[in-house]
Amino acid sequence: MQKTWGGRFTEPTDALVQRLNASVGFDQRLHREDIDGSLAHARMLAAQGILSAEDLAAITAGLEHIRAQIAAGEFTWSEALEDVHMNIEARLTEAIGAAGGRLHTARSRNDQVATDIRLWLMRRIDALDTALRQIQGALLDLAERDGQAILPGYTHLQRAQPILLAHHLLAYFEMFDRDRGRLVDCRKRAAESPLGAAALAGTPFPLDRGATAAALGFTRPMRNSLDAVADRDFAVEFTAAAALAMVHLSRLGEEFVLWSSQEFAFVSLGDAFATGSSIMPQKKNPDIPELVRGKTGRVFGDLVALLTVLKGLPLAYNKDLQEDKEALFDAADTLGDCLDVFTRLLPACRFHVARMRAACDDGFVTATDVADYLARRGLPFREAHHVTGRLVGWCIAEGRTLPSLSLEEFRRFSDVFDADVLAAVTVEASVAARTSEGGTAPVRVAAALSEARGRLGAIPA
Ligand code: ARG
Repeated sequence: MQKTWGGRFTEPTDALVQRLNASVGFDQRLHREDIDGSLAHARMLAAQGILSAEDLAAITAGLEHIRAQIAAGEFTWSEALEDVHMNIEARLTEAIGAAGGRLHTARSRNDQVATDIRLWLMRRIDALDTALRQIQGALLDLAERDGQAILPGYTHLQRAQPILLAHHLLAYFEMFDRDRGRLVDCRKRAAESPLGAAALAGTPFPLDRGATAAALGFTRPMRNSLDAVADRDFAVEFTAAAALAMVHLSRLGEEFVLWSSQEFAFVSLGDAFATGSSIMPQKKNPDIPELVRGKTGRVFGDLVALLTVLKGLPLAYNKDLQEDKEALFDAADTLGDCLDVFTRLLPACRFHVARMRAACDDGFVTATDVADYLARRGLPFREAHHVTGRLVGWCIAEGRTLPSLSLEEFRRFSDVFDADVLAAVTVEASVAARTSEGGTAPVRVAAALSEARGRLGAIPA
């Protein structure tokens, strides 16, 4: 096959070189963006008098035909043609003749590929924003459905203080909100057009770079032609944001792994989202939360791969940059799939509210309330903490719980205790007392839930 760049070569390409050099196996998924970019470029060339109206008409019809062929699965990709760009251009020229050869005027694959990836990523970020909103919506639904349940909040994975389930779920809502912010921010910097930078130095043709930028949905042309073809910061930023979103999913996954264990037994996963064991008939395994936790490592790997590809590259384009795509695609695909599966897993799970509440009874989770009680009556908090510590130590030795103590027993440790301490040390009172801004008191959580609903707005299906 005649190579697009074959003019100065006399020997054929080595077969292994051809395979290694080709990116069409993975960059063909840029076909939509590649055609959009070519159409915008051709229209601009015609508007600037660089391309005739007849050539533009032939190019437009030819590219739309190729688009339809690809959509129908009728396009044969050729490794010999290396990448998505040359596959499409070669097919166009085969179909329309000389006009196809004029499409690449004032353009290089270097600005072309940078344009394609940016367009692809902008679209992908929009889809991921929707996916993030959907998981946020699923968290709010769950918080509204079961959120009034009380469970121990943990520090160091030790029972610490009782909290509302809704409060716990809303913590993840906030993480995903920040993830959306990072993606939106990354999108702003991705939304600048490299098209017209050509190979690296610009072109003598009188281009209108603003026109192609606007036609493709970019905010403006990139300012420096070298930077335009060499920059992949947007891919790193995206993958870093994706890695952090995966961390959030992984932490949520870990909660579900723990909570669905027999040791916690706070939640049962829906059958559609769990799996069995091939040998132990009793098992119901949380494979999906585990897998999400495990896939987080892939996305970290994608990020490190991208950073490493870039770190030693001189300006401007280098073939190393072809390695950007698989890492970027993988990060986006993995995050998208993990968000979607968790969005579906959440409503299918069943919380064991009584079990959660019971876990609050034997962990001394209201010990802080005892110390707070004494502090409010004038005891310095450090002293109050010490008195309560002795009280808890005694309870442990005697096999007692805080809500089971009589006033007389409390007073053995301090005469500051009064009858109202009995009501102050219940789990419900402890939760209700945490009315500080951002706290777990039901009034605060109800307000936080409705604020979150408002912030999220309508969720696209
Ligand atoms: N397939 C290449 C890539 O992904 C396209 C750009 C090739 N440019 C070049 N000068 N060889 O980066």
